[in-house]
Amino acid sequence: MNLSVQLAPKNQHGLLLANPVMTASGTFGYGTEYSHIFDIQKLGAIVCKATTLEPRDGNPQPRLAETPSGVLNSIGLQNIGVNALIKEKAPLWASWQVPVIANIAGETIDEYANIASKLDGVAGISAVEVNISCPNVKAGGAEFGANPKSAAEVTAAVRAAISMPVLVKLTPNTGDIVKVAIAVAEAGADAISLINTLKGMVIDIAKRRPLLGSITGGLSGPAIKPVALCMVYEVAGAVELPLIGCGGINTASDAIEFIIAGASAIQVGTASFANPRAPLDVLDGIEQFMEKEGIDNLTELIGVARY
Ligand SMILES: Cc1cc2nc3c(=O)[nH]c(=O)nc-3n(C[C@H](O)[C@H](O)[C@H](O)COP(=O)(O)O)c2cc1C
Repeated sequence: MNLSVQLAPKNQHGLLLANPVMTASGTFGYGTEYSHIFDIQKLGAIVCKATTLEPRDGNPQPRLAETPSGVLNSIGLQNIGVNALIKEKAPLWASWQVPVIANIAGETIDEYANIASKLDGVAGISAVEVNISCPNVKAGGAEFGANPKSAAEVTAAVRAAISMPVLVKLTPNTGDIVKVAIAVAEAGADAISLINTLKGMVIDIAKRRPLLGSITGGLSGPAIKPVALCMVYEVAGAVELPLIGCGGINTASDAIEFIIAGASAIQVGTASFANPRAPLDVLDGIEQFMEKEGIDNLTELIGVARY
């Protein structure tokens, strides 16, 4: 059986994954945290926690709240910063078989381009995933990914700064995700990941106050799966680029739904908190499904819901 997928067919370096199962940024640390639990080298790719120009401590506590069928988080991009990532993490990743993708986040367009250019060509990093769910500080704080224009500007700046594959990760917190997807495709993205978390909040009724330290947070987990699936299906009908589906994937059957909707690969996120082996279980389940259904090549399944 062939489970391999090419996520950057037009890029000079390409991004060939042995299988479609990736980890979602922020839910799998730097990969090292899970390497004693299962053989992480079996995965298609690992996406690390968002990296910013400078190290960040993140938002005030509490930063996590359980919700019906989901989790609300407001971690606030806590990370070690791009220089430490290059010095301390990349050398280890360079010895790994599984490709590692660096998720990047910035407050300005220049910052995104600057982080990306530092990462370009670093051994151990195969691609960048641009997290455009960050507040555009210069434009009053709306997410870069909330409108096609600012999403395209970030994409174009990162594209111009580096030669390695550029994945752009869309936010669902926008009026029309299809328009944003078309804009980032035209601006030079190699692939599109979708979706990031949905904005939400929880109130502590005893204190009459928002539960999270930063008032609002991002909803993830099974609660968002139908939303994510629908967005993948609609974007697949509008852009030619490989899509990476993400949002509430817990099982192989969830993953297969995203592939049939149009995703070439998928990311397992919140599911890893309850079951740290979830990405591997999803991969095993996809293989079993293909065997049972007599599917030799995963590409036979991609997007078939549309035909
Ligand atoms: C605790 C936590 C931290 C996250 N951090 C990031 C991040 O740094 N960058 C990013 O692009 N997405 C981040 N995400 C979003 C996930 O990568 C993913 O898009 C989202 O959780 C939906 O997938 P899921 O329902 O499978 O978790 C984070 C999610 C969670 C729960």
